[in-house]
Amino acid sequence: MNINLNSLVQKYDTPLYLYDFDYIEARYAELKEAFEGHKSLISYAVKANSNLSVIRHLASKGAGADCVSIGEVKRALRAGVAKYKIIFSGVGKRDEEIKEALESDILMLNLESEAEMKRVELVAKELGKEARISIRVNPNIDPKTHPYISTGLHENKFGVEINMAKRMYIYAKKSDYLDPIGIHFHIGSQLTELNPIKESCEIVADLVRNLKAIGIEIKFFDVGGGLGVVYRDEITIDPRAYASVIFAAVKGLDLTIICEPGRYMLTNSGYFITKVLYEKINDGKRFVIVDGAMNDLIRPSLYDAYHKIEAISKGSIDSSEYTEADVVGPICESGDFFGKDISLPPLEHNDLLVIYSAGAYGFTMSSNYNTRGRSAEVALFNGADHCIRKRESFEDQIELELSCDSSWQMTKNDI
Ligand code: LLP
Repeated sequence: MNINLNSLVQKYDTPLYLYDFDYIEARYAELKEAFEGHKSLISYAVKANSNLSVIRHLASKGAGADCVSIGEVKRALRAGVAKYKIIFSGVGKRDEEIKEALESDILMLNLESEAEMKRVELVAKELGKEARISIRVNPNIDPKTHPYISTGLHENKFGVEINMAKRMYIYAKKSDYLDPIGIHFHIGSQLTELNPIKESCEIVADLVRNLKAIGIEIKFFDVGGGLGVVYRDEITIDPRAYASVIFAAVKGLDLTIICEPGRYMLTNSGYFITKVLYEKINDGKRFVIVDGAMNDLIRPSLYDAYHKIEAISKGSIDSSEYTEADVVGPICESGDFFGKDISLPPLEHNDLLVIYSAGAYGFTMSSNYNTRGRSAEVALFNGADHCIRKRESFEDQIELELSCDSSWQMTKNDI
């Protein structure tokens, strides 16, 4: 990592998220290039990292946005994503969210059940609008990834099975308030095998041909996100190979291909920087206690996910001095760890550790657990650093508790 971390830490303190915007841009370009020669839209999955500056940076390169709440839709619009490049997905949309999405005139709503379709139809009718929709098909394919991020099997809550999807398209086609323009699937995240993607594309493309035969013309073929990345030593899917299996599946169909990557662009742009507070040894077991915690980066605790951890060296340390340690945070849970049995040199108070691959599903999954303020976020771009989110203060955290009910005794004035 070619960054002067010490000066950044002096300026912004720790725990700290750093994102390399040049890297994000390069990854976007690489994927876009893979789709060259075909109509395509890369709709960035905002949930991976929803910082406005991140979305804005990708939007400036032409990216759209895949959103799963009206909040994400609003972020995308605020960050300058063109409305005709915004998709609103998710299994449970509230009426108000549907209404706002329709009023915002975004590209389409991805629907995940018949009941949801009827709701969208009703809301569209009330607004006197025709809702552009796509239906999420669950192709019942095992994506061979972590069960928590596997979504394309019938045992998962996502999408509808093929026959139901077909019935929904027929209904939508007849409705004055629904315009079925797209088809969608997303079989899981951190995919490292191409075959499940290929099979899903084929199943869903067959449905598109079927629909075409009965007069329902789909325009957008949305393959979801899920491209895996390297955290340790994974062999990942080449974007060109990815694009070519999609092209092969949709051959002969006039479709715009949409993909919704999040992790692919963000993961390895991001570094989580944390300071060593103390070391201790319990019955021979070494613990390095740092100032970051599971509330900042929950992936190791939640998925047992691997994130490479390195100490910033203060000169050359002989490898014989390295010993294994668990890197843990201050939160009162045994699950509060970033890594177990990590080989680290002797460390002192205020030494820095870098936790890699933290750009996706890091900050967005952070919380205030233990009344810990969320970390600051900093963008590194063209050799300069820019604060893109301030560190959350204690006052920021209690503000909403103090300002909601003035008749309640615990108002701002009393506390
Ligand atoms: N599209 C849909 C419909 C999705 O559900 C997701 C992710 C994506 C796109 C983006 O997937 P990606 O390209 O980032 O893999 N918190 C977990 C990941 C959850 C992913 C949920 N859906 C983690 O930290 O690994």
